[in-house]
Amino acid sequence: MEPRALRVVLLGPPGAGKGTQASQICRGWRVPHISTGDILREHCRRGTDLGRQAQSFMAEGRLVPDSLILGMLRQRLENHDTARGFLLDGFPRTTIQAESLEAYLQEVDRPLLRVLQLKLEDETIVRRLSLRRTCIRCGRIYHLEQNAPRVADRCDHDGQTLEQRTDDREAVIRTRLQVYHEQTAPLVSFYAQRDLLSEVDAALPIQEIQGRIARLLTSCLRPLRSTRRASAGSVRRSLQI
Ligand code: AP5
Repeated sequence: MEPRALRVVLLGPPGAGKGTQASQICRGWRVPHISTGDILREHCRRGTDLGRQAQSFMAEGRLVPDSLILGMLRQRLENHDTARGFLLDGFPRTTIQAESLEAYLQEVDRPLLRVLQLKLEDETIVRRLSLRRTCIRCGRIYHLEQNAPRVADRCDHDGQTLEQRTDDREAVIRTRLQVYHEQTAPLVSFYAQRDLLSEVDAALPIQEIQGRIARLLTSCLRPLRSTRRASAGSVRRSLQI
């Protein structure tokens, strides 16, 4: 049997560590990291029509309307670099987005391999996000205590300045959390019903989470040789990792 492609969704509240884990996974497995938040921020920086329309939603911590997101995401998935797989970070975020992704992937016969749900308490998230810093050039993510740069305010990778995101103020973080619980959390049962969900404890140290995800994805990608092994594997994968 052919090995399956790494087509993965990272699902989780703001600040759960999706971007941190995504960059490690994508470097290791050589698949594109598709972050709708990063794409939107790039549109805002360039001042495109989409960026202008998205800006106020993002600044207030609300979701950008599905009508703007769906075309943008489809266009990104049609890029040839997704042939070997992809990792979606921050998409889908609504049931409409999840249904639309499912329909598109069925149309191109490229089903999802796994959805990883990063779980973390709200109060930990507020503390984490207020100390997050991001490189203005390469986008690497730091935390002033847990994952600090070697030189203050400078990226370890390219020496560029680190900045704080404008939506990382406490009031906006709390709106983002509320939006997550109302509009995105229902996707947990959406994907559990499809037997695609694995929970990840996002309170663990970064390296520990990375190791657990790597082991899980390796086991998902291994060709399954018999129905018996397949069903044992799917039970194991639906448990917490
Ligand atoms: P987006 O950019 O997707 O933000 P988010 O989902 O709110 O997630 P974050 O990027 O804030 O957090 P993260 O989980 O990636 O955590 P990170 O790894 O940085 O979206 C921004 C906005 O764009 C949305 O509000 C919305 O307006 C719009 N948008 C985007 N997609 C959309 C969509 N599909 N539909 C509609 N609107 C959309 O980690 C956080 C911090 O914690 C860092 O400092 C990191 O160093 C630290 N850290 C990470 N892991 C650990 C750990 N294990 N232990 C200790 N510290 C850790």
